[in-house]
Amino acid sequence: MLKLLVKCINIFYNFTYLKFIKMKITFYGHASLGIEINDIHILVDPFISANEKAAHIDIETLKADYILLTHAHQDHILDAEAIAKRTGAKIVSNYEIVMHYGKLGIEGHPMNHGGSWQFDFGKVKYVNAVHTSSFPDGSYGGQPGGFVIEADKTIYIAGDTALTYDMKLIGKGYDLDLAILPIGNNFTMGVDDAIIATRFLNCDRVLGYHYDTFGYIEIDKVRAKAKFDSRLKKLRLLDIGESMEV
Ligand code: NI
Ligand code: MN
Repeated sequence: MLKLLVKCINIFYNFTYLKFIKMKITFYGHASLGIEINDIHILVDPFISANEKAAHIDIETLKADYILLTHAHQDHILDAEAIAKRTGAKIVSNYEIVMHYGKLGIEGHPMNHGGSWQFDFGKVKYVNAVHTSSFPDGSYGGQPGGFVIEADKTIYIAGDTALTYDMKLIGKGYDLDLAILPIGNNFTMGVDDAIIATRFLNCDRVLGYHYDTFGYIEIDKVRAKAKFDSRLKKLRLLDIGESMEV
């Protein structure tokens, strides 16, 4: 009887521990993500208030301790200022972007390519992306990037990028649990290149983003999933507001 009780207590503790260390990702449309790690809330590239497809998401209700920005384009930073000012969230991005928000009175943590930093939620590395990066007024937004986040799970957020050979370095350096890749084509890589990226990254699990928001990047989702399936890869596409556990 006592043995059974001890076993029950152990199961309970293991269960709560597993619950405690989970990583939850919520898709807020386009390239906007919420990541929850140990009750710390991270927003990535918030572009929500001008996205008609995300009209049911109220940015006033979003929690944020950190806002990670991959680059300075409007479709990635639009709501960062308002959310940072309301929540006191820290901006984590390249040097130029963090300086830009510093001038607006927003605290941040500047990084640059190849550098990593241990935050309270996990370790973040700012990695290469092949794209452009300027603020909506045309001012310089530094070089665009992506993030690798190492917490209980390890994820790669590619940002806006072409397929690059540099992705092989990420595949060699990390055992990724999930790769979040743009699949909309035209401004970033499309589905075919994203499938090649999974090989470079050595990661079969993909969350697709940066598609369907506007005309240039509309995709056939059924066909995209079928293409991944035919190469024995898994493409996950979330509804706007839907969450997944990594
Ligand atoms: Ni962009
Ligand atoms: Mn973009």
